[in-house]
Amino acid sequence: MTARTSPTTALPANGSAASPVDRLRPRRSCLAVPGSNPRFLEKAQGLPADQVFLDLEDACAPLAKPEARHTIVKFLNEGDWSGKTRVVRVNDWTTEWTYRDVVTVVEGAGQNLDCVMLPKVQDAQQIVALDLLLTQIEKAMGFEVGRIGIEAQIENARGLTHVDAIAQASPRLETIVFGPADFMASINMKTLVVGEQPPGYPADAYHYILMKILMAARAHDLQAIDGPYLQIRNVDGYREVARRAAALGFDGKWVLHPGQIEASNEIFSPSQEDYDHAELILDAYDWCTSEAGGKKGSAMLGDEMIDEASRKMALVISGKGRAAGL
Ligand code: GLV
Ligand code: MG
Repeated sequence: MTARTSPTTALPANGSAASPVDRLRPRRSCLAVPGSNPRFLEKAQGLPADQVFLDLEDACAPLAKPEARHTIVKFLNEGDWSGKTRVVRVNDWTTEWTYRDVVTVVEGAGQNLDCVMLPKVQDAQQIVALDLLLTQIEKAMGFEVGRIGIEAQIENARGLTHVDAIAQASPRLETIVFGPADFMASINMKTLVVGEQPPGYPADAYHYILMKILMAARAHDLQAIDGPYLQIRNVDGYREVARRAAALGFDGKWVLHPGQIEASNEIFSPSQEDYDHAELILDAYDWCTSEAGGKKGSAMLGDEMIDEASRKMALVISGKGRAAGL
């Protein structure tokens, strides 16, 4: 197998400066785990999700939050999370909980934490503030400065309006995450079923939001992640909504229940057929541009013309396929 450059590093949109964070972590399935529930925190370690996020925000009742911070520290330090991206979602900056969430979790378990997720991000300053706080803690604790990444959740109109500035607010940013439940509530969308289309609207009510998030993420070399689907027993419904985001180019989706993990991993991985086809395109392009192949800019692969743009599209599929172990 020839070594290929990964899609994101092969296609820098902004030539972003070297950053110690890893924007290529697999995130096909991002499992939400309430930080106040030791039983779920135990069980999550054995599930095949690419990412877990231990939640201090909406899955944790206000009175449970102080203790949940310490429970999360214990589970990050003592649990076996190998192979998974470890994220903690703190509370948003409009609450009284955020700074204490960050200080307790990062001081206590910063060495065993990959990212902090910030919900309800409204503007770039909120990311800058989190970045500064993380830097303070890393310096004070003697941790590598800048290693802990940030995931920014877009959950209201103000956040969406500022999403491009948010996406370039810190070199720590790894993902932009859509939060459909809070978002629908914040714009008064007329449905109570998260992810489903509001009755009376004849097209896809999420298209603009998803595309705007995706554009900001891609413009700044970040991953784009779709949020939850709350009807956890309706796996067909989950699949439909996940396929919509995957078709646009999103990298993964939240899972709220173990029953959604397999669907998400499958939908956000290319099929074997697409992966094999992408590899053929890359081989054909490598050959036609080589000395032996006549240094040509394009070639035919069966009935298909292959050129530099085809190579870029194939690199994306090939990179995702390799990350998925195809
Ligand atoms: C997730 O946080 C959402 O609001 O959908
Ligand atoms: Mg939310």
